[in-house]
Amino acid sequence: MTSTTQSGKQLIITGGSPLNGRCGVSTSKNAILPILAASLLTSEPVTIHKVPAISDVKNMFTLLRAFGARISIAGDDVTITTKSIKTTSPAANIMEKLRASILFMGPMLAREGSVTLPLPGGCRIGARPIDIHIQGFRALGAKSVTVNGHVHAWGRPLHGADILLRFPSVGATENLIMAASLAVGDTVIRGAAFEPEVTDLIRFLNTMGARIETASDRIMIRGVKALSGTEYTPIADRIEAGTLMLAAAVTGGEVDLLRADAGHLKPVCDKLIEAGAEIFPYENGIRIRGRGVRPLNIVSSPFPGFPTDMQAPFMAACCFAKGRSTIDETVFENRFLHVDELRKMGADITVNGRTAYVNGTGRLHGAEVSATDLRAGAALCIAGLLAQGETVISNIYHIDRGYENLEAKLLCLGARIVRLS
Ligand code: UD1
Repeated sequence: MTSTTQSGKQLIITGGSPLNGRCGVSTSKNAILPILAASLLTSEPVTIHKVPAISDVKNMFTLLRAFGARISIAGDDVTITTKSIKTTSPAANIMEKLRASILFMGPMLAREGSVTLPLPGGCRIGARPIDIHIQGFRALGAKSVTVNGHVHAWGRPLHGADILLRFPSVGATENLIMAASLAVGDTVIRGAAFEPEVTDLIRFLNTMGARIETASDRIMIRGVKALSGTEYTPIADRIEAGTLMLAAAVTGGEVDLLRADAGHLKPVCDKLIEAGAEIFPYENGIRIRGRGVRPLNIVSSPFPGFPTDMQAPFMAACCFAKGRSTIDETVFENRFLHVDELRKMGADITVNGRTAYVNGTGRLHGAEVSATDLRAGAALCIAGLLAQGETVISNIYHIDRGYENLEAKLLCLGARIVRLS
């Protein structure tokens, strides 16, 4: 990786500048995390290109090393070799704070026949249980118990099964695909998640020799005896691309985002067009030309619906639109933590259960606010770009978990933004 993740304390944004220019989009956080976990499925070297310098990736490296992996880093190329695995949970403090640590379960169970990990626990945006993961592992023949905050699962070999998920959980789908890749026989996952990051994981596993196919309503996995090493470049981050597109649109600028994939961003592009922007997709990028923002009605839902990860940034934009917007969050039960922070900037928002009503006034003002979670942090950046005066965002380690050098990207597009360490 070219730079280490910065862990500065505050971002200071002075609003009012339209964003213009061109900028590259980093590799997807949600694609690379399961791919890093899947590297444990083989003892051969796995090389990943364009690895983003974000703290979630750094934490995954710490966990991989604790599980026995050797990691060599050259620029943004990373090679992981795991000759043998320790299946208990070292680095418990990191396991607990990184939700994606649960993604180690499937690979470890598949390769070693047993695994013990601390429960990843809830987080501020919702309880985030793992029942769908566990039910799927049980369908594959594993047994599991939870004792003292640790989940222990075992079963060897796993057997292919027909699995119906009660909700298209992204993480559970990924975990079960990884586990089923080395099971005996065929697995069908119905009710699965089809987020682009799930599809990217499937592509990655197939380059390792897995036999996975998708149909419109299911994922079919033919178990193989072993997987081999590979080289892979994961997809670009559609949420980072969406965040930068939104920033360009609402500030009335014109921006080229290299690597952004319009095929992954359809619901976001639809809302940006409804908000008044023009969008020109081309090979390996998207140009967006903005004209401010009109009120919107947004309902987050699993792919191909509007991504829950874009809900908070769009709410910030709606606060600036003149008129009433409605935002329904159907994926997470508590994903409105940004509301109180946006109110500090003059936003008029009423929340009733999972619906937020935004009374946009066409004005926001700078304030001292706190990034309460990753996407809430992105929302505050959008609000800061629109606000009159200076916005000071603290707790930006949340932003650093998932956005690679966000302020450098905004800066090169003309934003007035400074990181105070
Ligand atoms: C992934 C993404 C996250 C995104 C989310 C939804 C990664 C690393 N993170 O998270 O950015 O916001 O998808 O698109 O890819 N649920 C259960 N039981 C389970 C699993 C999930 O009830 O066993 C519930 C969750 O509490 C949540 C909903 O299902 O309400 C969606 O969760 P899930 O799709 O699993 O999200 P993650 O994989 O954790």
